[in-house]
Formats: sequence, C-alpha cells, structure tokens
Amino acid sequence: MTVDDVRRPTRHDLAQRFSHGEREFPTSPLYQRLAGIVAADDGLLAIAERCRAGQQPTNLLFAAVHYLLLSEPGTPVPLAGWYRSLGGTRDPDDPALTTAFTDFCRANEADLTALVSRRLVQTNVVKRSAALRLGLAAIDEPGPVTLLEVGASGGIHLAFDAYRCRIGDTEVGPAGSPVRIETTWRSPRPVPTRIPAIGARLGLDLHPVDLADPAERRWLRALVWPENLAQYELLRAATELVAARRPRILTGDAITALPRLDAELPADRPLVVWHAATRVHVPEERRPAFDAAIGALGRRRRLYTVSLETPDDAAEWYRRYGISYALQVRAGARPARRIAAADGHLTWIEPLSA
Ligand SMILES: C[S@@+](CC[C@H](N)C(=O)[O-])C[C@H]1O[C@@H](n2cnc3c(N)ncnc32)[C@H](O)[C@@H]1O
Repeated sequence: MTVDDVRRPTRHDLAQRFSHGEREFPTSPLYQRLAGIVAADDGLLAIAERCRAGQQPTNLLFAAVHYLLLSEPGTPVPLAGWYRSLGGTRDPDDPALTTAFTDFCRANEADLTALVSRRLVQTNVVKRSAALRLGLAAIDEPGPVTLLEVGASGGIHLAFDAYRCRIGDTEVGPAGSPVRIETTWRSPRPVPTRIPAIGARLGLDLHPVDLADPAERRWLRALVWPENLAQYELLRAATELVAARRPRILTGDAITALPRLDAELPADRPLVVWHAATRVHVPEERRPAFDAAIGALGRRRRLYTVSLETPDDAAEWYRRYGISYALQVRAGARPARRIAAADGHLTWIEPLSA
C-alpha cells in the first residue's frame, strides 16, 4: 500500500479530532481553546484538511500559524497577544481570541494552506533522549552497537550522550554539557545507567531537518506549543550543539528506504533501531509495513528495536496512564517488552514490572 491509497480523514473526522483539545494539548491552554474554535469553523477545517496522509492535522495547523507569527515578530498582529512564545499575556478564555484567530487565518489562508500541505509534524523533543538511554540500558550488549534513528527530524537524539541527564536523583552524561535534561522517575527502583558503547550513528527521515537553515529551525521552534518556553530553551541549546556536529541523516520513507540501507549497515555488530513519536505519524494501514521494514534488518545482524510510541491498545493504556507513550525494547523477532510508560514530552517516566 502506498501513501496515495491511505484513507483521508473526512471533514467530520477532523471536527471530532479538534473537539478533543484538552486531550491533544494537555500543557497548552491556548491550543485547547483554539482547537474548539477550529472544530466549529468549516473554513478553518478546510485548511487543516490539506495535510498529508498520516500527519496530525491539529499540530500541523497550529504550527503553521505559529510559524507565520514567528516569521514577522516585529509586525503587530493582534493574535500574537495570546502567544507566550511572542511575549503575549492575554487570557485564552478572552472571547476576542475567536475573531483574532479566524481573521489571521483568513488573511493568511494561502500561506497556511501551503505550509499545512507541504510540512510535516517533526517536533524534536530533547527530553525523549532520556527514554533512549533507558531503552539502551535494557539491552544486554557491551557494544559497540550501530545506532539508527528512524524519524530523526533534526537529529537531536543522535547526540543523546552529549547531554547531562537527570532521571529522578540519578545523573548521567557530561557534567559540563550546555544541554541539561530533567525528568521525574516515578518509582523507588534504581535507575539503570549502563548502556552499550555506541559505534556509528545515523538517522533516517522523510525530511531531515537541516539545523543550519534558519527557516527549518523556525519550523522546529513553531512546533513547540507557545506556553512550553522551557522545552523551547532546551531545544535551542541542543540545536546549537547538534548543528555543529552535523549528524548523518538520510532522506527516505522507512518502508522503502530501510531495505536499501540494509546492505550499508555493518553486519558484524549489533544494530539498535530507535524510533520515538514516529510510528504514530505513519498512516495506520502502513504500520505493519513500517514494522516489517525494521524487523527485516535483523536478518543480517543482531537487531534491537527501542521505541517510544503510542501503544496499539491505546484505549486501555489511556485508562491507566492518560495520554502517554510506551517505551518498548524488542530483541530480534521476539515479542516486544514494555519497560516504561512516559508522557510524550518526558516530564515523567514510570518503569513497568517485568
Ligand atoms: C514527531 S517527529 C519525532 C522526531 C523525534 N523522533 C523525536 O521524538 O523528537 C516524527 C518524525 O518522523 C518522521 N517520519 C514520519 N514517518 C516517517 C517514515 N515513514 N519514514 C521516516 N521518517 C518518518 C517525520 O518526518 C518526523 O521528522
């Protein structure tokens, strides 16, 4: 099945999706309010409808609006008054928000449509590097292992071991690093810290984000919800560090690119494939092919898959952990082991019983 065969959401599906703003944007009161405004406006839904198959229309539309606002910070636009990222202080419950938002979208409809139909949700969340560490710590290999990130975006996680990382009371990583991650460890158990040595590292993405390009950096910045200023500061610091390293990130769809990459990856050392918040952006009908393309890399070498994704049994999981991801580790073709639950932005992580 190709991307063109994937079922597109109907206008009704989209309205439903936007009507769950509290669930989608737990740390953004502004986006919660905007989601309700979009759900009730056919013209705004028509813009969101232009997104590519598999993309999250909610994040994409709001990132496109944020991107345009960030592009001209000197120009006074009433809507900017609600964006903390732009110094705005207005209350999201102020009824004037509806007019300010719809007027802005109508005035910029062509640019918004172009962004929504061309861009991807590529939010590179620095703190998810802590989950990669914990996943690696569950792999019983001395290394060196090859690290391949599928859905690498700007490659922020490929430098995970250059960041100081505090998980609960445990600190790892270089003490003087300008990038400092902190996450809550919801358990009395000790945090595992021993990880295999990393050999070659590389990424793959539909569209690798070039961190040296100001417009690309602005897109990554626009994807961070306006209230999450600390998350943005962390991204800025990591971007500086990673841009100087220029990680190798190949362009391609995992389903078609991994079989070609197979021959190039070392066969004489284990391979760790890492993907975070990536499978969730693959259209549902194509996920079996995505999993199979990763699994096939295990034919020529020992393969471990570490993933931080929305679990397939999302309803049951949601009842237990709320909106959150499952950290899983899979050795070869064995069943995946769920080792932790974590919120999408890695503010907390809870190890699960074996
Ligand atoms: C939400 S971002 C997550 C980025 C990073 N993994 C993180 O957690 O910070 C998802 C990334 O996956 C990429 N992606 C989505 N589908 C893909 C596919 N089929 N093959 C390769 N990359 C894909 C997107 O382009 C995007 O950069």
